[in-house]
Amino acid sequence: MKITFQGHSCFTIEEGGHRIIIDPFLTGNPQAVSGPDDIKVEAVLVTHGHADHLGDAVEIARANNAPVIAPFELVNYCTEKGAEGHPMHIGGGFDFPFGRVKLTIAFHGSTTTDTGAVGSPCGFLVTMGGKSVYHAGDTALFSDMALIGPVDCALLPIGDNFTMGIDDAVKAIALIKPKTVIPMHYNTFELIEQNPEEFKEKLSAFDTRVEVLKPGQSVEI
Ligand code: NI
Ligand code: MN
Repeated sequence: MKITFQGHSCFTIEEGGHRIIIDPFLTGNPQAVSGPDDIKVEAVLVTHGHADHLGDAVEIARANNAPVIAPFELVNYCTEKGAEGHPMHIGGGFDFPFGRVKLTIAFHGSTTTDTGAVGSPCGFLVTMGGKSVYHAGDTALFSDMALIGPVDCALLPIGDNFTMGIDDAVKAIALIKPKTVIPMHYNTFELIEQNPEEFKEKLSAFDTRVEVLKPGQSVEI
């Protein structure tokens, strides 16, 4: 499985000829090296309605004839904007042609800039070709993360202020027990400036491999 960091909380995941994107914030993302026109995917997963996650989801879904996969209320928002959608909700899983997606809890908000609240935020547990990836979305640390792992890879926010910071993300690793972790949701904006090398250092005694990726960089897991 190939995971490519697209900046902020956006990742593309490829496995067995399938490709999906999560939280496609590209337009207006100062870290992004790809634009929405560069993205060829069969599904667009969105954790919540905030602009730094919903991003170009509707445009990419429409251009690719790909469904937006998200919590029910957020999918309704996207289908009203002309995208196809596959509504899900917390705790539910579904087998798509590319793999399985299960929605996890996330402690955060979910609003859009034009319509306000769009239900609950989520995280995603994605399984493709026997490999599992947990994208936590924007969330605080919560002890039920222990029920999500172990996973092959965790994508965890470390930016603090709006989400977990480094110390709570280290506690999350102890709960999730991922083989690999990729930090996300830091250094995009001034309020979430963090040093990912500090995260790596604090995990040096753990069995988890830490991959600090620059936007556009990929890792095989
Ligand atoms: Ni958010
Ligand atoms: Mn965010």
